[in-house]
Amino acid sequence: MVKLNDKFFEPFIPYSAIQKRITEIAREINQAYKGKTPILVGVLNGSILFFSDLLKEITISCEVEFIRLSSYEGTSTTGDVKQVMGLKKDLANRDVIIIEDIVDTGITLENLTHTLSKESPKSLAIATLLFKPNAYQKTIEINYVGFEVGNEFLVGYGLDYDEIGRNLKDIYVIKEYNMINLILFGPPGAGKGTQSDLIKDKFDLVHLSTGDMFRFHLKNETELGKLAKGYMDKGELVPDQVVIDMIDAKLEEEKDAKGFIFDGFPRTTEQAVALDKLLADKNWEITHMLSLEVDEDELVKRLLLRGKDSGRKDDQDESIIRNRMSVYNEQTAPLIDFYKKQGKHQAIEGVGSIEDISGKIAEALS
Ligand code: IMP
Ligand code: MG
Repeated sequence: MVKLNDKFFEPFIPYSAIQKRITEIAREINQAYKGKTPILVGVLNGSILFFSDLLKEITISCEVEFIRLSSYEGTSTTGDVKQVMGLKKDLANRDVIIIEDIVDTGITLENLTHTLSKESPKSLAIATLLFKPNAYQKTIEINYVGFEVGNEFLVGYGLDYDEIGRNLKDIYVIKEYNMINLILFGPPGAGKGTQSDLIKDKFDLVHLSTGDMFRFHLKNETELGKLAKGYMDKGELVPDQVVIDMIDAKLEEEKDAKGFIFDGFPRTTEQAVALDKLLADKNWEITHMLSLEVDEDELVKRLLLRGKDSGRKDDQDESIIRNRMSVYNEQTAPLIDFYKKQGKHQAIEGVGSIEDISGKIAEALS
């Protein structure tokens, strides 16, 4: 994946496939224009790479010429085509082939063919590497098409996004979606894990549970696991930097995700500040902070019950559970205000059937 200014693009047509297709188009042109000397008119700037790669495969005699037009700003056409740089060559009575990078609405192409027709060429053909048939509004026939593509915005191999990205060897497609980055918040036993499992499938999100990650490291006796064990067994928080580094690595690993559920993280204001920064570095942000509200006696009951089945040490001893509750109240609960200030917090009643609660969460997210 590449990032150009504020947008992300993912691989779409690899250079090798482009080359293969260009060879085929060149073969057709070589055959159709055998014994003639066509003038290839490249449309600047976008067609530079297509033009030069195609030219290398043209084996018949030919001449080259360039014309420069512009009609795009950002990722949508302005519809207002300006001819910036005119022709030097006399096209009268010549076979002309327009070489375009991409035909979208066809407004540019229509303007171009109109302008070139005035020069009275003997024939006028059009070759474009890319064609967007669903966006095309015109009827002019396009003689050579490299690839038919959808309406998504493309960059690379000569195509630009606000003038950058032309030098990319492959063609890339824009990645557009509304990310959901949810902090599922609440005291131990509130149902964060249970709800995360339901919500992650529904919204195609990656579930990041710091508790599960640490338990994984503990089980596999990694360095990180050994470090975390002492804290977790006592019901205390693992130091911020350790957790932040672990989350950072996970975010980097899941760069293509549609979004994340943060479960059990952040747990302190320092972690929340660090998380905002980690996300901002990737042009992401927290979109929702939903806190599950359950009263403490109910929580203790749930945890003791869970401790019986799961064997989790920290769920088996009421004094450890009570310690986790007071750590939560002192260090973690203040995060509600942190996210309230950002306008992202919403409270969810965490008592009732699992389905009812997940219904309320889904509603808050959509
Ligand atoms: P049209 O006039 O709508 O056919 O647009 C033609 C011009 O728009 C092309 O020559 C490109 O410069 C630009 N364009 C259209 N689609 C894309 C795209 O997906 N990526 C980059 N530029 C594009
Ligand atoms: Mg162009």
